[in-house]
Amino acid sequence: MCPHFSYDELQIVPYTKRRNVSDFESTSPELNEFLKEDALKNQEELISKTYLCCHSNQLVGYVTFTTDIVRQKDVREEEQIEIPYKEYPAIKIARLAVDKRYERKGVGRFLLLAAVGKALKISNEVGCRFITVDSKQDSIEFYKKSGSFKLIKGYEKKKYPTMYFDVLPTIKEMNAINTKLGDF
Ligand SMILES: CC(C)(COP(=O)(O)OP(=O)(O)OC[C@H]1O[C@@H](n2cnc3c(N)ncnc32)[C@H](O)[C@@H]1OP(=O)(O)O)[C@@H](O)C(=O)NCCC(=O)NCCS
Repeated sequence: MCPHFSYDELQIVPYTKRRNVSDFESTSPELNEFLKEDALKNQEELISKTYLCCHSNQLVGYVTFTTDIVRQKDVREEEQIEIPYKEYPAIKIARLAVDKRYERKGVGRFLLLAAVGKALKISNEVGCRFITVDSKQDSIEFYKKSGSFKLIKGYEKKKYPTMYFDVLPTIKEMNAINTKLGDF
């Protein structure tokens, strides 16, 4: 098994036109094309925002965020929110890919952690309760395993089933740790 990168070795930077992404090659031609052809244009039009993940200045993965909503009826019974709005605010992982030469080294999981960090940051400024993703069938296990994402009921057989992650338990956990640590 190839060794994982340590998270200190990975860096997330915003995608700007000064970055060269021409060598990026994941196993998904659509995701390669999006990064090379459309990501910057989408960003200029305020549709989505892309971040690159680098290891020693080498591009190893990327993630693109946009905004989303989660409908109350799509949240599983055991996770229903006390305040019953019809819809809840979310950020969506619109694209996520790892270069095939760097797969299974923890880059994908690191990008999901970056998504959680982004959701926490946004939730401090405006509401953001969930992270969503329309997963490829092949990647459902990755999102379940690496990020505790849940499938929306009834979407399991879709080509790109929607999955969601509730941010609140993580925020509560982090607040509890911060309280325990005090001035540490
Ligand atoms: C899916 C993808 C993002 C995973 O990235 P990665 O860097 O290889 O994943 P990681 O190394 O962080 O893996 C984290 C965990 O998920 C598991 N995992 C990774 N890909 C998986 C898959 N396709 N199916 C099941 N489990 C998977 C790993 O084994 C690892 O578990 P472990 O810690 O118990 O060993 C990457 O394979 C990819 O870019 N695929 C093509 C594009 C794609 O499918 N993107 C998702 C679009 S919805």
